[in-house]
Amino acid sequence: MADLADLVIIGASYAGTQLALAARANGFAGPITMIGDEPHAPYQRPPLSKGFLRDEVDASSLPLQSPERFAEERIVLRTGVRALRIDRDARTVELSDGSAIGYDRLALTTGARCRTLLCDGAELGNVYYLRDLADARAIRDAASRARHAVVVGGGFIGLEVAAALRKLGLDVTVVEMQERLLQRAVPPLISSFLMQAHEQQGVRFRMSSRVRRLVGQATVAAVELESGEVIAADMVVAGLGVVPNVELAEACGLVVDNGIVVDAFARTSDPSIVAAGDCASYPNPWLNASGQGGSANHCVRVESIQSANDLARVAAATVADRATPYDAVPWFWSDQYGYKLQMVGASAGHEQIVLRGDVASGKFTALYLRDGTLIGADSVNRPIDHMAVRRLVAARLRPDPVVLGDESIALKSLAPA
Ligand code: NAI
Repeated sequence: MADLADLVIIGASYAGTQLALAARANGFAGPITMIGDEPHAPYQRPPLSKGFLRDEVDASSLPLQSPERFAEERIVLRTGVRALRIDRDARTVELSDGSAIGYDRLALTTGARCRTLLCDGAELGNVYYLRDLADARAIRDAASRARHAVVVGGGFIGLEVAAALRKLGLDVTVVEMQERLLQRAVPPLISSFLMQAHEQQGVRFRMSSRVRRLVGQATVAAVELESGEVIAADMVVAGLGVVPNVELAEACGLVVDNGIVVDAFARTSDPSIVAAGDCASYPNPWLNASGQGGSANHCVRVESIQSANDLARVAAATVADRATPYDAVPWFWSDQYGYKLQMVGASAGHEQIVLRGDVASGKFTALYLRDGTLIGADSVNRPIDHMAVRRLVAARLRPDPVVLGDESIALKSLAPA
């Protein structure tokens, strides 16, 4: 009998964990080793910018899988170790503990890191970014002592952190360089709704504004904007977007273009190496068509748990020689105060918006049409609509807009049999 193939996975978060489990589910029989540089086993990240900051969620509830599950599936987890170099000829990975590990199949699920502030004073104490558990702990500790917080960036991190800090009673100002919130992800209708929701909770906004410098001795005391305005701050949290971790891939000569480029089967330019998660750029049939975030080769890098999990399943099938192409409809959610925003498909590129429900009531769904096809929807506190639209987008529904907006007709009833 031939030797069993070895699968090595670099990166131990959503994509890495899903890839390891799905490889087993697809019948991959060889040893699986997952390498992660954090000291923890893989854990859930969404609570970090929400309940965890408010001290409502304990770290003990965060693990993605139990140690027993990894053991049952014969997945060896090596935490606190960094992969330093990939030798594609020798098929080995050098690790930070001085050892090396051989592979037959390699998976890169290295994720992304926070973009950082580059202005004067950026190195001061009490300036935070939020990506991992250590970051969230540091922000939670600082929030327990601070009174005035400035949040730089009105994206998902910025808004969820602003909501959590407001709930903790801090005075919060959000500084955003664009004219509207979440410009990258949602249309103006949703941006305005969220801005009002935050303003009602007492958050102040400085839109179309940039930070000139952070002022303070050892720790930050104020944020000076390009406009000259100075805002007092005991702590600053910046959520400026992320940069994919592609250095290992680049150094070993894989094709990289705003992410590790993979095909619809999650294969990199080296057929023995797959990639998934925030680090990977791949052909996504639902987002290409809308032109959302695509690079010149029409690959997209999608920063979401759904994308990480679904592309990891595709990568796992490839590793197990059962290749099937990616086709999952994208979806995403964000919780801010009592509002659950749920997004499905694409909104960029829409030509028509059909509304169900009343925006002012805080319960509505905006459905996006392009060339007569339903390409996506954003819902606020309408989870049933969200679940229905996932199926309608997958079916490439071409609805009558009047029927689509008719509240007496359930969205799910529009799905083809
Ligand atoms: P983001 O891309 O959502 O938002 C970054 C925001 O910062 C943008 O509005 C941008 O215009 C602004 N910005 C960038 N540089 C700036 C500057 N110098 N001054 C002022 N504003 C500036 O990225 P974010 O919020 O950092 O989130 C990082 C990642 O984490 C994203 O991929 C996001 O999808 C993910 N995430 C997901 C959540 C969820 O699933 N609910 C929650 C939080 C984060």
